[in-house]
Amino acid sequence: MNKLVSASILSADLLNLESEIRKLEKNSVDMIHFDVMDGIFVPNISYGIPVLESIDRLSPDLLLDVHLMITDPLKYIDKFFLAGADYITFHIESESNTAETIEAIRRTDAGIGIAIKPDTPAEAVFPYINDADMILVMTVEPGFGGQAFMDMSEKIRKIREYAESNRNNPASLRIEVDGGIDDKTAPIVKNAGADVLVSGSYLFRADDMEKAVSILRT
Ligand code: DX5
Ligand code: ZN
Repeated sequence: MNKLVSASILSADLLNLESEIRKLEKNSVDMIHFDVMDGIFVPNISYGIPVLESIDRLSPDLLLDVHLMITDPLKYIDKFFLAGADYITFHIESESNTAETIEAIRRTDAGIGIAIKPDTPAEAVFPYINDADMILVMTVEPGFGGQAFMDMSEKIRKIREYAESNRNNPASLRIEVDGGIDDKTAPIVKNAGADVLVSGSYLFRADDMEKAVSILRT
């Protein structure tokens, strides 16, 4: 399966979001990674539904990969779907019931993503291995862009191995990594079995974004 690059616009110039998104289209990123933070689940507040709607209107074809770092994601699944989300990823450490949140996403047309923080073990997602389209393994503590990468290779490998023997269609499971992904850390996570690479500061700081995208992808 091809590796996908999901650009985190947390590191974009938000005053010029339209031109930043055109730049992502031009450099053929696969998805826009949209980080939603509520100031409670994580110590930071970002942006939400109206901004997502605007991006979807601006770029209807680009896939929107929504990462919910919020306390009660279940309450907002339909709203994010209606605003244009193609993948909805919520944290297993949130206060929402995991099975109910999965069901709520399943009722939409969005892909189901389950995220785990660095201290959460791989085993936490095992009961949902057949429900998830994507598992997001955080490689930083969620909350801020530009942090140092934490090596979660062993966790990624464990999830891949578990999926191999317990998932109906193991090859269809995406494993996404998020935090500190750049030219040096991308090979580590790809070797471990990750296939969706989120990148914020590395992409937006690159002098040549096209080259940066292709380094992540290949
Ligand atoms: C952090 C966010 C990330 C962040 C990644 O909580 O979930 O998506 O924007 O940024 P970089 O690539 O700069 O680590
Ligand atoms: Zn994220």
